[in-house]
Amino acid sequence: MVLWGPALGALLLIIVGYLCLPTLLRHRGPQEPPLDKGSVPWLGHAVAFRKNMFEFLKEMWAKHGDVFTVQLGGQYFTFIMDPLSFSPIIKDTQKALDFVKYAENLVLKVFGYQPMEGDHQMIHLASTKHLMGHSLEDLNAAMLDSLSLVMLGPKGPSLDAGSWHEDGLFHFCYSILFKAGFLTLFGYTKNKEQDLLEAEEMFVKFRRFDVLFPRFVYSLLGPREWVEVGQLQHVFHQRLSVEQNLEKDGISNWVGYMLQYLREKGTASVMQDKFNFMILWASQGNTGPTCFWALLFLLKHPEAIKAVREEATQVLGEARLDVKLSFTFKFSALKCTPVLDSVLEETLRLGASPTLLRVVQKDYVLKMASGQEYQIRRGDNVALFPYLSVHMDPDIHPEPTTFKYDRFLNPDGTRKVDFYKSGKKIHHYSMPWGSGVSICPGRFFAISEMKIFILLMVMYFDMELVDPDMPMPPIDPRRWGFGITQPSHEVCFRYRLRPMQ
Ligand code: HEM
Repeated sequence: MVLWGPALGALLLIIVGYLCLPTLLRHRGPQEPPLDKGSVPWLGHAVAFRKNMFEFLKEMWAKHGDVFTVQLGGQYFTFIMDPLSFSPIIKDTQKALDFVKYAENLVLKVFGYQPMEGDHQMIHLASTKHLMGHSLEDLNAAMLDSLSLVMLGPKGPSLDAGSWHEDGLFHFCYSILFKAGFLTLFGYTKNKEQDLLEAEEMFVKFRRFDVLFPRFVYSLLGPREWVEVGQLQHVFHQRLSVEQNLEKDGISNWVGYMLQYLREKGTASVMQDKFNFMILWASQGNTGPTCFWALLFLLKHPEAIKAVREEATQVLGEARLDVKLSFTFKFSALKCTPVLDSVLEETLRLGASPTLLRVVQKDYVLKMASGQEYQIRRGDNVALFPYLSVHMDPDIHPEPTTFKYDRFLNPDGTRKVDFYKSGKKIHHYSMPWGSGVSICPGRFFAISEMKIFILLMVMYFDMELVDPDMPMPPIDPRRWGFGITQPSHEVCFRYRLRPMQ
């Protein structure tokens, strides 16, 4: 017993030494970017980074300039903050930067899914086939049916649908988009009422997982929360299981294609269940929060909602409920809404904060637009955080924190794509979908479904904020870097179905 103490102490020392020594010995090499290891061995700046990534990177940028390497939990991340220098990283002509490796570890931890070689290409191929082009037309129609079901109910609107209802705007948008998106992609049983109830239950669990998600990724959960996350994962694996799918009709071609691929590759069915969970997360985690910000901006900017309503009436005609069970909608109108497109682009500029990460596979020469070159070490990570370096750059987007519904419109009403930095035309002026090999393969469907939802809301419903003078809610700092941001608190609003002529 007495001997165990020193032995354990020595073992601990060896482990700590093993972890910390390489980072203690690391110094900035010639031609390498400024290195900031932080004051805590191994952890480096992890605590400040995880607490508020936006503020942390702002501080590092001011201290070190456009390129710097920071230590975060024993790993080194080189951030590039000059968007004019993004192209070589995104195109990766030196074939030195890997996206898949980083994503694989994350996916295994968060969803329990062990990716196989070729998965990434397969997902992108499935998405090109079934989430874009002509296939998108069928998916839009299916989404409209699902939105009608979720928003009007299986028997059509209830008698009191025309009176005012109060809800949290974030909850309202997220739950509708989630339920409709889930049913559209993962299919229905013969019992629509039951499907709706199941979708509602799934949303409650999904939202709980979503709340825990950032701290789960950063391994910051308490013991009870760890257990809870494990239970939630288990519920999703069960509810989305291949067995359950057998009883469903109308599973989207997108999900069907990917599952067939996995079956043909001999993937075990339990792994397919986990794959479904990952796909549910990727497809449903961002659309609801984006619609929340979009509707909130519209409600706070009367001139914007007026412009969107006028455009909607022009391209869709007067709102009408078809036999009172579904919304009437002309899908061709989705191609003629530059005002709404600009509102959505502006919402994504203000709301999207993805981190683009690549693992450096071999020693890499980072070439900046200024002509300066930096050496980046094999095994380090290269990272972009466009929310700070692009979306909030006042040179590219004057008054960057202000919502301007027509920011992405030319004076003649067409889409604006010309933006400049230091007088040079800039290609990456907004990056809500990431870019390069990891660009969101669902972006065209995402845009369509969000546009349909917003159009339904402005055409068929009256909406108002309970407190029109309330300031915009601050962004929850824990969600920086994880896709669409979320508000720190709910926003109360009321809505009612407009009486139809
Ligand atoms: C507002 C809505 C959305 C936003 C802002 C968004 C954004 C993103 C971003 C930034 C990534 C890349 C992450 C990275 O580089 O690591 C991504 C990946 C992905 N997204 Fe989306 N997304 C949205 C909606 C959707 C929808 C509706 C779908 C499918 C129906 C979808 C499917 C996916 C998939 C499958 C991936 C992973 C792709 C891969 O492995 O390379 N997303 N999304």
